[in-house]
Amino acid sequence: MPSTLDRVSGQPAPSEITPRALYEGRRGWMKRLATGVLGSGLATWAAREALAAEGSAKGAALVGAKSAVAGAVTMEKSTSRADATSYNNFYEFGTDKADPARNAHTLKTRPWTVAIEGEVKKPKIFGIDELLKLSAMEERIYRLRCVEGWSMVIPWVGYSLAELIKQVEPTGNAKYLEFHTLADPKTMPFVGSRVLDWPYVEGLRIDEAMHPLSLLAFGMYGEVLPNQNGAPVRLVMPWKYGFKSAKSIVKIRFVEQQPKTAWVKAAAQEYGFYSNVNPKVDHPRWSQATERRIGEDGVFNKKRPTLMFNGYEAQVGSLYAGLDLSKNY
Ligand code: MTE
Repeated sequence: MPSTLDRVSGQPAPSEITPRALYEGRRGWMKRLATGVLGSGLATWAAREALAAEGSAKGAALVGAKSAVAGAVTMEKSTSRADATSYNNFYEFGTDKADPARNAHTLKTRPWTVAIEGEVKKPKIFGIDELLKLSAMEERIYRLRCVEGWSMVIPWVGYSLAELIKQVEPTGNAKYLEFHTLADPKTMPFVGSRVLDWPYVEGLRIDEAMHPLSLLAFGMYGEVLPNQNGAPVRLVMPWKYGFKSAKSIVKIRFVEQQPKTAWVKAAAQEYGFYSNVNPKVDHPRWSQATERRIGEDGVFNKKRPTLMFNGYEAQVGSLYAGLDLSKNY
């Protein structure tokens, strides 16, 4: 268990989630920000960008038909939109849960492209409008379990990542997908801090990526994604800890070797490549047996049992047959 808890949320503090050396590097950086070395320029630039962002498609409707994919619609009560859009992890905008909602107005989501490269027969750069039209939008209501011990239930809008993969025709050498997300120091105030080695890179095995539950999401709660939730396009991997669900994706590389992800680079002994939700394999510093559902339990009340593969074992368990899940955490 963590030795210190965030006083407001009852979750492990950023200093616990983030390896100490990186966290201390971040504190030095924040000090410079506070003492104005970086601060004054940042403030005027932020105001300018906020004005520029006005008039983009914020809050526009984006609806999808109820998904017919097995397991894609949980009947559990959804987390309120207010909670799901104000309690976030998006370290490019800060490490406190309220930072992304406060800071991500600077993210420019148009124009936006996603480059597909590497081991594919048809590499291509997709514009965001092309991606939006690539397949029929579906609504998926997924549980989201963060490695920190909290969870939500969120109605996403998007389509299976497999739809995009089919378009680019992976070669026989494509064993993994590597997701690169935007790392723009001009619009993302924490890119440049030492919290992580930017850009935020995530990865999946190709059979995981092809699973129909793997979602490329463009919206939530019937609207386009708010910036703090990873606009304009993100992954949602419901059976894996939330950090596998990369936000604001700009590039997908098909590769032969297992990608070096940002969290594995930061602390391989704590955050593995697979990161499947598993109540039997604890984080080295806290238990993963139970979780706190945001908006439901008391602040310190981690009373809900965590489910194997976050409750998606019937759908995805066979992907991991024969794999030692305590070694491949
Ligand atoms: N993607 C990027 N680019 N940067 C991040 O810091 N945080 C991850 C994931 N994707 C993160 C990211 C973590 S730890 C979680 S739990 C989820 O996003 C949170 O998604 P949400 O804020 O929409 O609930």
